[in-house]
Amino acid sequence: MEYNIALVKGDGIGPEVVDGAVAVLEEVGEKYGHTFRFKSYLAGGCAIDATGVPLPPETVEGCLASDSVLLGAVGGPKWDTLSGDVRPERALLGLRSKLGLYTNLRPAKLYPALAGKCPLRAETVADGFDLLMVRELTGGIYFGDRGRRDGKYGPEAYDTEAYSVMEIERIAHVAFAAAQKRRGKVISVDKANVLETSRLWRETVHRVAEQYPDVTVRDMLVDNAAMQLVRWPGQFDVIVTTNMFGDILSDEASQITGSIGLLPSASLGDGTRGLYEPIHGSAPDIAGTGRADPIATILSGAMMLRYSFGLGTEADCVEKAVDKALNDGCRTADIAGPGDEALSCGQMVRAILDRI
Ligand SMILES: NC(=O)c1ccc[n+]([C@@H]2O[C@H](COP(=O)([O-])OP(=O)(O)OC[C@H]3O[C@@H](n4cnc5c(N)ncnc54)[C@H](O)[C@@H]3O)[C@@H](O)[C@H]2O)c1
Repeated sequence: MEYNIALVKGDGIGPEVVDGAVAVLEEVGEKYGHTFRFKSYLAGGCAIDATGVPLPPETVEGCLASDSVLLGAVGGPKWDTLSGDVRPERALLGLRSKLGLYTNLRPAKLYPALAGKCPLRAETVADGFDLLMVRELTGGIYFGDRGRRDGKYGPEAYDTEAYSVMEIERIAHVAFAAAQKRRGKVISVDKANVLETSRLWRETVHRVAEQYPDVTVRDMLVDNAAMQLVRWPGQFDVIVTTNMFGDILSDEASQITGSIGLLPSASLGDGTRGLYEPIHGSAPDIAGTGRADPIATILSGAMMLRYSFGLGTEADCVEKAVDKALNDGCRTADIAGPGDEALSCGQMVRAILDRI
């Protein structure tokens, strides 16, 4: 099969880590007889420098014409003083909305070989953890009415959270379908003791659950979920939650894995096209030094194989190669222990290619 992949390398370490993931996809393509065609587009700070805007129309057109999009990261100090609507990060919101991506999937797991890097106590993660955060991406308070007005105590600001049944249903279906392919457990996170949107969320999730009798569903209040993630992360399989709760909890989940350089993500809509990217930013502090960890972007490529192209065996192959490299002691600087020799980004890519 042939697949067209749009590359949006972005800024900072973006180009280094995307090049690593491309090398891995090419290797997997050769092994399993697929052709991946890559075409690069500008977004973020590099697009501002070249065209004056963070998301040029040709990038949107190129991504819409592709089978899927692999993104590095955007932003950096050079563009920090620009005003909100022309900042590099606008490119991310623009791409998500133009591609109609309402689901964000963020897996977070503890690699046994890196258990020592986990900031939690050894007994807390004795049984490891392997969870999938399913976050609603285009609704809720980040997209509701907002403004300033005169209030009871003088000037005030407000943001509104709104969720429709349709928005909750479609994200719930994603979570239940994902759980069917995992350990069959969904925990739905809300704040139903306070928020009306959460009560609708809870009702709707349970109604959708009736269509998935092989999956168990449990509700958890968001404050409790924040605590449970550091108390016993092994209890979670799939977590489904709103845009804002997911934003916060997924960063918390990422921190307990040991390094932000390991975590991939997928943003999906109704079709098969998705936007795949590491969860980290452009890491300007290490850009160009060869110290970037390419694993998050390589695993984002594996998620693309699985979720957009239906190539589960090929995705497994990439994930196993990463596991093997880590088990064999390959370490970039972010995950190196005292006395470990740190590999460069390119050396880590080579180590993974050798294990495919
Ligand atoms: N999706 C995105 O494109 C995205 C996400 C977050 C931040 N950003 C942007 O990135 C820039 C830097 O943001 P930040 O410093 O807050 O977050 P960051 O994720 O770029 O970096 C945080 C820390 O983690 C380290 N780090 C990140 N990725 C790494 C990797 N692959 N390997 C090794 N170490 C890694 C960095 O060196 C840094 O010390 C900002 O302009 C921010 O707006 C972009």
